[in-house]
Amino acid sequence: MRIFIDTANLKEIKEAADMGLLDGVTTNPSLVAKEGHKNFRDMLEKICAIVDGDISAEVVSTDCEGILKEGRELAKIHKNIVIKVPLIKEGLKAVKAFSDEGIKTNVTLCFSPSQALLAAKAGAYLVSPFVGRLDDISLNGMDLISQIRQIYDNYGYTTQILVASIRHPMHFVDSCMIGADVCTMPFKVIEQLAKHPLTDIGLDKFLADWKKLNS
Ligand code: E4P
Repeated sequence: MRIFIDTANLKEIKEAADMGLLDGVTTNPSLVAKEGHKNFRDMLEKICAIVDGDISAEVVSTDCEGILKEGRELAKIHKNIVIKVPLIKEGLKAVKAFSDEGIKTNVTLCFSPSQALLAAKAGAYLVSPFVGRLDDISLNGMDLISQIRQIYDNYGYTTQILVASIRHPMHFVDSCMIGADVCTMPFKVIEQLAKHPLTDIGLDKFLADWKKLNS
């Protein structure tokens, strides 16, 4: 299981990288806007300097020509840049062209198994099903991950399933059980993965006993 952080906050990216668990970073236009980064290129260069792994950079064009123009420029920034393309018809055309050119893609905003199948056929390197946003509308996001896993295995597609829109640790644990390839999550969820009350209680006791011994 590869772990990506889902943020454009450089401090959080650095801290997660220092924990030795980070395999990549995903960003999207909302996350970049939230951090107030005015220079997208500069932000991506900084992220690439912190993390040696897949760094997803999302395009904002919605026509194939525009997506290709944006993506080709972003791909020049660093060898680890993966072009994030929306799962729409024009996006799929662009994914096919990028794939032919050897540019890696992350096909985003995937909400159905049929969309995921098309992304794989177009040559996507990663597909991003959004589990939290499905849960938000009373659909089971993890069911989608199981369906995509089954379909990709049935036909031998090598596109990696990147579970996105993760909201809590159980999304991560269930993704591992299903056999998804990558999980991207906010820093808060990464912190939650490391946390256990019995660890804290146990550590407090060890330290208190040690103090008694040495007093
Ligand atoms: C990552 O690639 C997605 O853009 C992100 O996980 C979406 O998360 P959200 O549904 O919490 O905005």
